[in-house]
Amino acid sequence: MNVDEALRARISIRAYKPDPVPEALVRDILDVARYAPSGGNLQPWRVIAVAGAARQAVIELARTHLPGDAGDRFIYPADLWEPYRSRRFKVGEDMYALLGVPRDNKPGRLMQFARNYEFFGAPIGLFFVIDERMGYGQWAHMGMFMQSVALAAQARGLSTCMQEAWAMLRQPLHAHFGLGEHEMIYAGMALGYADMSAPVNTLRSARASVDEIAEFKGF
Ligand SMILES: Cc1cc2nc3c(=O)[nH]c(=O)nc-3n(C[C@H](O)[C@H](O)[C@H](O)COP(=O)(O)O)c2cc1C
Repeated sequence: MNVDEALRARISIRAYKPDPVPEALVRDILDVARYAPSGGNLQPWRVIAVAGAARQAVIELARTHLPGDAGDRFIYPADLWEPYRSRRFKVGEDMYALLGVPRDNKPGRLMQFARNYEFFGAPIGLFFVIDERMGYGQWAHMGMFMQSVALAAQARGLSTCMQEAWAMLRQPLHAHFGLGEHEMIYAGMALGYADMSAPVNTLRSARASVDEIAEFKGF
């Protein structure tokens, strides 16, 4: 699979087969993803991978600590504006339509959201840790690393879903993992083999065209 193919094939997978992923394969993915670029080569990332009992422990932790609080590093700005508001709304509505959960079925929607905190059934959970003293630049570089992890997984026949939902549990996760004073969880990621029989995995999110996102000058 070349880079173009991996970029196009990677989608957020929200239902997984229970098939285990061996530690060696997770290591292999991280081994290639660590070549992601970062300003000043700071490599401002650390990863905690959980499987088996360690995975179950964070699922239990989520059950006791939700709804949680993302703190001052909010997931989205308040009162999202256009075009972002509509994009967010559309992908959410498209997903719930595939699941047959209408807008007025609040418990149904909450139950689907809660699947985040079970890694959507994926056997592996990854947590991405950053130093809270880092700025916007380093958060962007963390994103490069995460995308590299997702693409490396894709190239190996695995699927992922990035999960900022875990940001709601930053404080309990900090204590649970015994993170350093300045360390914080940025986000989680589900990793495993996609269950392509699940309707939710047929979701294909739209993208703005090149002309909408780019300007070309001086060509
Ligand atoms: C940093 C980051 C955090 C995300 N957090 C979540 C999440 O908590 N739960 C979820 O279901 N999807 C999450 N997503 C997935 C996005 O909704 C998804 O990437 C977007 O809708 C585009 O769809 P695609 O990944 O299938 O291309 C996250 C994506 C990113 C990049």
